[in-house]
Amino acid sequence: MSDAPKHTPRVFSGVQPSGELTLGNYLGAVKRFVELQDGGMETIYCVVDLHAITTWQEPSELADATRQVTAAFLACGLDPKRSILFNQSQVPAHAELAWVFNCVARLGWLNRMTQFKDKAGKNRENASAGLYVYPNLMAADILVYRGTHVPVGEDQKQHLELARDIAQKFNNDFGRPDFFPLCEPLIGGPAPRVMSLRDGTKKMSKSDPSDMSRINLTDDADAIANKIRRARTDPEPLPDTLEALEARPEARNLVGIYSALAGTDLEEVLAEFAGQGFGAFKPRLAELAVSHLTPITAEMNRLMADPAEIDRILGDGANRAAEIAEPILAETYDVVGFLRSR
Ligand code: AMP
Ligand code: TRP
Repeated sequence: MSDAPKHTPRVFSGVQPSGELTLGNYLGAVKRFVELQDGGMETIYCVVDLHAITTWQEPSELADATRQVTAAFLACGLDPKRSILFNQSQVPAHAELAWVFNCVARLGWLNRMTQFKDKAGKNRENASAGLYVYPNLMAADILVYRGTHVPVGEDQKQHLELARDIAQKFNNDFGRPDFFPLCEPLIGGPAPRVMSLRDGTKKMSKSDPSDMSRINLTDDADAIANKIRRARTDPEPLPDTLEALEARPEARNLVGIYSALAGTDLEEVLAEFAGQGFGAFKPRLAELAVSHLTPITAEMNRLMADPAEIDRILGDGANRAAEIAEPILAETYDVVGFLRSR
């Protein structure tokens, strides 16, 4: 039984303020957020600071990291008039619905989450309880708005399946088939999975210990060019077919980044560069990356010079977000059977 038509289409997504945004965040997520502003659906984008503290964040840096992600959103083209932009901790309904979902999701479901296994590492006993229930909070983020469409990179697919399972189980348990929508992932932007520049089998990540593994949105032209020049590759020239690229993860990644930035498909990039070595390809890629990213970086720097304006935008977004979330949370509490006497 699909209840999609019963819910107004609404886009929701989130990004953690746990380090500088990377080219992976840009190509896998934020670029798509911007395009969706013109897609006729209401768009809500959240800086998920509650998620960030599931691993240690220096308190003196967290507020600034939250402003940085907001500045990146704005610099990439999100418009606070057309989208709701805010940080999660300013809307308490997220944490409140997450508690209900902690009681809906099953331990067996959470035990299957690969991101928890990756992030907790070997010392699982020492991971925070928050890191374990992280996907329940993510489901609450989306469903407290009855979000129907969720643009994310490929690494979040499993979490979104869990969000659907939570919605479905809530609806079944409480006998309300259409209460929460079964939200749909929108994966497959220009580059749903950008890999590390040092290891083509690992995703590019803001939390990677090596800064050379990623391009940050705050890197200047020299840093970008240097990182691309030193990116790991193999000695072979670029092939003329996609199949030949599959077994060469580093080459595949650089070609993928090129095609995403240029807005062309992989085949076209190969048609242009087949037979050439990385000595020829890398400078062209660096040039393309620099021309795309430098205006974004400059705009981020301009915005960061006025933190009060960023705070105002987030505060305004939080008020608008709360207006949507609070009635949905209240309805949820009624369905659960919580007593309300005021
Ligand atoms: P995070 O930085 O983990 O909060 O991720 C924010 C968004 O960026 C999510 O939608 C991720 O799926 C996406 N993302 C993060 N890293 C990458 C990457 N290397 N390639 C593609 N998308 C990514
Ligand atoms: N877990 C997501 C990530 O790390 C961030 C996130 C939190 C999110 N809540 C969300 C993404 C809700 C989409 C919808 O990338």
